[in-house]
Amino acid sequence: MILIKNIKKLVQVEYEPIRLRRGEEMNTLHTIDNAWLRIEDDKIHSFGQMIDCEDITAETVIDASHKMVFPSFCDSHTHLVYAGSREIEYIDKIKGLSYEEIAKRGGGILNTSKKNAQSSENELFNSAFERLEEIKSLGTGAVEIKSGYGLSLESELKMLRVIKRLKEKSPLTIKATFLGAHAVPAQYKNEPDKYVDLIINSMLPAVSEEKLADFVDVFCDRGFFTVEQTDRMLSAAAKYGLRPKIHANELDYSGGIQIGVKYNALSVDHLEFTGDAEIKSLLNSRTMPTLLPSAAFFLNMPLAPARKMIDSGLPIALASDYNPGSSPSGNMQLVLSMGCIMFKMTPEEVINATTINSAYAMDLSQTHGSIAVGKKANVFITKSIPTYEFMPYSFGNNKIETHILNGKIQ
Ligand code: NIG
Ligand code: FE
Repeated sequence: MILIKNIKKLVQVEYEPIRLRRGEEMNTLHTIDNAWLRIEDDKIHSFGQMIDCEDITAETVIDASHKMVFPSFCDSHTHLVYAGSREIEYIDKIKGLSYEEIAKRGGGILNTSKKNAQSSENELFNSAFERLEEIKSLGTGAVEIKSGYGLSLESELKMLRVIKRLKEKSPLTIKATFLGAHAVPAQYKNEPDKYVDLIINSMLPAVSEEKLADFVDVFCDRGFFTVEQTDRMLSAAAKYGLRPKIHANELDYSGGIQIGVKYNALSVDHLEFTGDAEIKSLLNSRTMPTLLPSAAFFLNMPLAPARKMIDSGLPIALASDYNPGSSPSGNMQLVLSMGCIMFKMTPEEVINATTINSAYAMDLSQTHGSIAVGKKANVFITKSIPTYEFMPYSFGNNKIETHILNGKIQ
């Protein structure tokens, strides 16, 4: 048992747990001043105000004076299993090439996919495990990881098996997404539909047979996969019970959002090109619009209309997109700051977007994303900080002192 006492502020507490916060509710953030929190086994047992703190004897007592306790971040969109890095393309980008131009030259996703094909399962596992340890120290407690740098049956399965081993070894809660449709491999360049057939007829059955994926993803955007191809793949994936979480509207009004909603996607992600039609479609759905500010920052992209989306009543989740091409960082504290600075979201909105809403975007909001009795004991204790608004304000600094996952101090 762990008892955390004298907590300056216990942040994101819920007495009646909800699944997500949308629209104006995104400004709601329940907190308790001068609080205590009790953890039993891997769950949150109880919490309250210090004046009501019973004299409990706990194996571990932590004094959190001047410090705050938050639920761990939920990062609902990453590609953190990858070999090598792409800083040379980064220089090309600085010199003026666009993400699409780099991709057309065989760089981008295909570049990493070549490196992944040449790496052993163990090599991929070790580098990904290190990244998990790194994001753990920055406050992330649950993460979704995609395949998609395989692009062949063998190599996609290799990535997904790595993710399976990460689930077994890491204290983070992990969800796996099959993203065979991340890019069209070079050998299918002139007949992309054949690659779509390969995904439908070989990859999906094999992934499902080995139970390697929780979700399915498609990069539905200009220059990658069309709406028709996405429709075919999501329809096939539905037969295996795989709910979509798709890459959409990053490069154009691609129809990706609407096709995601049609298949009851858990989330649609990126969304730089979101207009009235897209907002309307999302308002009539159970799909979480997810924005990836570090990718928009790194690629210097136009920004998703976050304010308009929230003001129209939509929920928003924020995630890191940790990957070698568009966001070589999985720092969710930085994502908090970027949400405020770039999207003009309030501190309360970005906290909801990186906890309860991003938990929803990986189907974890019943157990993660807030401090509620019976939820998974995934919480972090900050260093001494003056206010919770300090978290996004103090950008680029690690404000976390202690991370507890599954009830264990890490
Ligand atoms: O989410 N947009 C597509 N996929 C990734 C980028 C992957 C890469 O460039 O390696 C993304 O940004
Ligand atoms: Fe991505």
